[in-house]
Amino acid sequence: MTESERQQHDHLDVLMQAYTEALAAHGVDGVLLYSGRPARHFGDDQDTSFAAYGHFVHWTGQAQLAHSWLLIRPGVQPTLTLHAPADFWHLPARLPEEPWVERFRVEARESPEPPPLPPGRFAVLGDVTNDLAQALGAEANPPGLVAALDELRVRKSDYEVSCLREANRRAMAGHRAAREAFEAGGAEFDIQLAYLSGVRQRESELPYPNIVGLNAHGGVLHYQHYDTAPPAARRSLLVDAGRRYRGYCADITRTWAGGDATPEFAPLIEGVTALQQRLITDLAPGVSYVALHERMHEGLAALLVAHGLVDASAEAVLASGLTRAFCPHGLGHLLGVQVHDVGGRVDARGQPQPPPAEHPVLRLTRELEAGMVVTMEPGLYIIPMLLEAHRHRPEVNWGRVEHLADHGGIRIEDNVLVTADGPDNLTPREH
Ligand code: GLY
Ligand code: MN
Ligand code: MN
Repeated sequence: MTESERQQHDHLDVLMQAYTEALAAHGVDGVLLYSGRPARHFGDDQDTSFAAYGHFVHWTGQAQLAHSWLLIRPGVQPTLTLHAPADFWHLPARLPEEPWVERFRVEARESPEPPPLPPGRFAVLGDVTNDLAQALGAEANPPGLVAALDELRVRKSDYEVSCLREANRRAMAGHRAAREAFEAGGAEFDIQLAYLSGVRQRESELPYPNIVGLNAHGGVLHYQHYDTAPPAARRSLLVDAGRRYRGYCADITRTWAGGDATPEFAPLIEGVTALQQRLITDLAPGVSYVALHERMHEGLAALLVAHGLVDASAEAVLASGLTRAFCPHGLGHLLGVQVHDVGGRVDARGQPQPPPAEHPVLRLTRELEAGMVVTMEPGLYIIPMLLEAHRHRPEVNWGRVEHLADHGGIRIEDNVLVTADGPDNLTPREH
């Protein structure tokens, strides 16, 4: 057995033990996890792309397996029911020939309906209705149990860390290819194709739609198109793109200056990168992620001043709220079998930890613990709609800001494991 296969067995042992305790604490004899199914376009016979429910992926690593059911009972071998009808239109669902599969009793089922449950008290988790759960004599998605199982995804096992590291390594091959396509003068669409070819993963299996923004598009936080024509000028490229590996997600962003960039742009990228690297060194158990997010804003204020975008003290820039106009998103989030993983806004006892009022979109508000994997993604963008509210500020060097507007923005994002011995950056720093 390979080291990774051994780690996966350990992961499943730990999961079974933790589920046993959570199920007992919530008064149920077992839980049926539904992988889910793709949505169908209205009035059509075509489906959307699909990702399986995170708790199903936590056990199986199978993020594409639809219509499948996993029954977990303490002390009993888990049953994995696959929807595998006799079908000559599609290839029936299949599991890989890997040692972890032997940990499950695998049943093929003609129907996509749930398998019958044995006698006892059960919960059904996933995209199911109360009626379906009732018909099984079970409860659908009891919130206390869901929160307890979410918590099990917050600290990663050695197996999960090795999957996240490999997802990062493979994603970086895509980032290399994307950069080369940019330097060769490619359009957003060409850069996207180069990325997909570099990671060797189809678009629908990626953890999220890649963001490939040339020039001003880099300032649209979740820019969703791929222009097929190259722009006349090549000022900047922002690529936020990941990859899945055995269900686990990479979420990496790089920003590049092109040959037509203003000379101020590349130093600004270096400034954001240095800020990100500094913030990464602060990752440690016991540190508040909200405090790190606030430290990002202090760093951004200092950058705006140092690069001549604002003539004021860094303290005054911070107090004015300007940094929130230049960076309206959070410093990062938990990462796992979902790109924005669960459990970021509750504490370890399940108590809500809402974000601060002035940072409402921050997805991770808890104190860091060893075993968490977080993204670190400071950004600095020229977003006219947000800067408009600050138009009256004479300390802003509007000429310089407007000169940068057609470069869009900068984001630098790595994925980092928190350990007692310091941060372990899972993203190769070749770029
Ligand atoms: N790619 C989405 C994010 O960075 O959170
Ligand atoms: Mn990202
Ligand atoms: Mn992210």
